[in-house]
Amino acid sequence: MNASPYLDSSLPTSQRVEDLIARMTLAEKVGQMMQLTATDGVQSIIEDFHVGSILHTSPDRVLEAHTWTEKSRLQIPLLVGEDCIHGHSFWKGATIFPTQLGMAATWDADLLERVARATAVEVAATGIHWTFSPVLCIARDLRWGRVSETFGEDPYLIGELASAMVKGYQGDGLGDPTAILATAKHFAGYSETQGGRDASEADISRRKLRAWYLPPFERVAREGSATFMLGYQATDGVPITINDWLLKDILREEWGYSGTLITDWDNVGNLVREQRLFPDYAQASAAAVNAGNDMIMTTPAFFQGAQDAVAQGLLEESRIDQAVARILTLKFELGLFENPRMPDPSLQDANIATPAHTDINLESARRSLVLLQNDGTLPLPLDATKRIAVVGPNADDAQTQLGDWAGSSGQAPWLMDGHPREQITTVLDGLTNLTPDGWTVTHSRGADILTLGEDPAGAFFADGQPRPQVVFPSEPNRDMIADAVAAARDADYVVAVVGDRIELIGEGRSTATLDLIGGQVALLDALASTDTPMIVVVLASKPLVLPPSAHQAAAIIWAANPGMVGGQALAELILGHIEPSGRLPISFARHVGQQPTFYNQIDAQHGTRYADLTQEPAWVFGEGLSYTTVEYSGLSIERADLGRNDTVRATVTITNTGDRPTRETIQVYVRDVNTSATWADRELKSHSHVDLQPGESAHVDISVPVADCSMVNARAERIVEAGDFDLLVGPSSRLESLLSARFTVREP
Ligand code: NOJ
Repeated sequence: MNASPYLDSSLPTSQRVEDLIARMTLAEKVGQMMQLTATDGVQSIIEDFHVGSILHTSPDRVLEAHTWTEKSRLQIPLLVGEDCIHGHSFWKGATIFPTQLGMAATWDADLLERVARATAVEVAATGIHWTFSPVLCIARDLRWGRVSETFGEDPYLIGELASAMVKGYQGDGLGDPTAILATAKHFAGYSETQGGRDASEADISRRKLRAWYLPPFERVAREGSATFMLGYQATDGVPITINDWLLKDILREEWGYSGTLITDWDNVGNLVREQRLFPDYAQASAAAVNAGNDMIMTTPAFFQGAQDAVAQGLLEESRIDQAVARILTLKFELGLFENPRMPDPSLQDANIATPAHTDINLESARRSLVLLQNDGTLPLPLDATKRIAVVGPNADDAQTQLGDWAGSSGQAPWLMDGHPREQITTVLDGLTNLTPDGWTVTHSRGADILTLGEDPAGAFFADGQPRPQVVFPSEPNRDMIADAVAAARDADYVVAVVGDRIELIGEGRSTATLDLIGGQVALLDALASTDTPMIVVVLASKPLVLPPSAHQAAAIIWAANPGMVGGQALAELILGHIEPSGRLPISFARHVGQQPTFYNQIDAQHGTRYADLTQEPAWVFGEGLSYTTVEYSGLSIERADLGRNDTVRATVTITNTGDRPTRETIQVYVRDVNTSATWADRELKSHSHVDLQPGESAHVDISVPVADCSMVNARAERIVEAGDFDLLVGPSSRLESLLSARFTVREP
């Protein structure tokens, strides 16, 4: 007997899809649109719901799931999805890279493409086909718990880095057995919170969306990110799950996106429960499908709801067929009907945590570190024997160093103890291993950060996700502090590693303050009262507000959850084995009340400060020091009179005027001098890197298409307006640091 056409790989995908859909019952089609969590088992979700996809699946269950699909009527392979956000997060012993925010501090798209490629190779070997990464949300209020998942505050940089990661994940195309599906998320505006509170109403205009939130999504939609995921937010009263303007007019029609759209966790349930737009699941399911969602994440009630919706005439079956066609197309393009890409132990041995991946990880960790302040203490001189006291709660906390979405961060019940300790170098490990013979490294914890208590509201949210425990900041402990102070007094340098921890990071874990909590400020204050020069390492998921004792320290380094080899990278930086090259992808606030702090705000307020406190951030977007000094000079524009199809071309000279090598990040901003609507003073449009030896100079070419010198007018249209512009070039977004040259865009 001939095999059914959908099983014939010589036929075009569209024909196979059509054949298969014609064989499916309504229940099988609705199930195909569903992604359910495998944390409670796989048999029932495959047999009873006919799910098309699973997530949060332990390695054993991935294998088990295949045995159930093989027994199913049509044997449609599953799409196995997972949050492999900065490495294969929940595979014990995989390579865990710095968090997305840490990687963004490298400003290096090529490096991020390599990180994503390495991740895909590791993920593909374990039977997972789909990562829910990258995050294209723009960071706004720093209190939001998910800032560490973003690439920071600038839409251009987000677009560059997200595009690189999508390419890295998807490799040479979905037929490549090491390719995994990328997900551009969370579409769109989720990060526009109220007071930093997670998933609050996103009070955001269409103009604002078009100006800053949508451009990175548009880029990866046009470049072919295989999937898009929604956020949880509602805007102007419309939950994103049924936002026709964003899902249809913009994504599908304006951008021509033909990929697969997945909701976020139980968005359909949310329409009934919290958002209360619909009285039942039939109506909510119909609305979600009619709005263009293809896959529904973790809403078991969608199964009956969608079938009821068809029976009640609320939903055309042809609309379900369209969604199923998109999902099946992905499965055919991945070749899953021929090869379901099962977990493969020999590929795992060959591809997971390889030395080559560890090298990429080390390069990422080194490049992610941002030197914020240095009075010349760093790098430590290696010419005489020294004693270093390493103190602070994050100095030797291996799992905390990895940040959110990594082992012990709580989303994977099979990995609660985290990643293998021996694969992780903490700052204490790094300094112990790398200091020259004869040096002494001592350790004292000095402070605790927090303790936890049960939330009286219960262990789970209504959508089934675990409810975070309540955080109680630890009291400063006099004995611990005395011990650390004694260690500092006994040393030539004290390295104080402070920051946050997983219980203060993530979904539903926004913070009310940005302070170093627990005993940390008291510890830093006490250390500052010794004469020992203090190097503060802020090992924190996001920018925090530092106390005066930290601001007065000899040096400050920010390490945004720098991954498995972060401690080695930090030790190398402190000892001068490497040069600092990270640049802030996000501004640091001086106090929590000044939120938000991003550099490209529209500024037309009265005055420049609060009555009681400054509005100046502590460090602005783009800042970061080297161990040398760098001078920018001779910015010159080739031709200053330009049409809309031209490119602004300029050169600038960069000179290393100090005595250490450097890798400089040249930042190019554009100011539109007069605009028809209020607009940011300057926006990043391009950047490049140059390596310079001491005394060396380089002429760097700059080019910015005039088409990129656009703004969004009062009718929410992105246009280039004729008139004068300033090209601003320098080492950061800080106005005083930028050279300026004028050009003019002619009327058409
Ligand atoms: C909800 C989160 O918002 C999303 O980012 C994640 O991918 C899904 N849960 C699946 O874990």
